[in-house]
Amino acid sequence: MFRSKLAQVGFWMVKDSKIGRFISETRTEYLRGSSSPLQLLKKHPFSTTAADKAHEEANQEREKISVTFVDKDGEEKVIKVPIGMSMLEAAHENDIELEGACEGSLACSTCHVIVMDMEHYNKLEDPTDEENDMLDLAFGLTETSRLGCQVIAKPELDGLRLALPAATRNFAVDGYVPKPH
Ligand code: FES
Repeated sequence: MFRSKLAQVGFWMVKDSKIGRFISETRTEYLRGSSSPLQLLKKHPFSTTAADKAHEEANQEREKISVTFVDKDGEEKVIKVPIGMSMLEAAHENDIELEGACEGSLACSTCHVIVMDMEHYNKLEDPTDEENDMLDLAFGLTETSRLGCQVIAKPELDGLRLALPAATRNFAVDGYVPKPH
């Protein structure tokens, strides 16, 4: 029981050498039989709260994926995106110029992004009809175009690269044709 707990926590050793040393020392003592688990807990000042905190931090880091946005000038920005967050939200949190005029309600194409490699593109959920309708209106549509508000971070998308098109078409502005009075 104690050993399996140690094995679990041991996974995180690479993340924090203090934990690594703690595990290593207590494990050796336990296996030698020189101390009982209770004695070990009393002996080592390292608290389970600290272990939990380190574990939690490592988990949070693990629950983010790395995404690279490439702007129209070829400038790259690598950001960490939490699992479950859309690329539109992630872009806004990181000052990346992706407009998103309708705030993700599939009523514009200003969050148009181009997935830069087919491997990642194929890991995305298929676009809905509504997304395809909006994509048809997007400026510079490509085979791997998607709407950024519909691309949700998931572990398989780690390393995703998204290009921002040279322009977007906002129909609230570009497509509005005033009626003559
Ligand atoms: Fe309008 Fe994505 S923000 S469709």
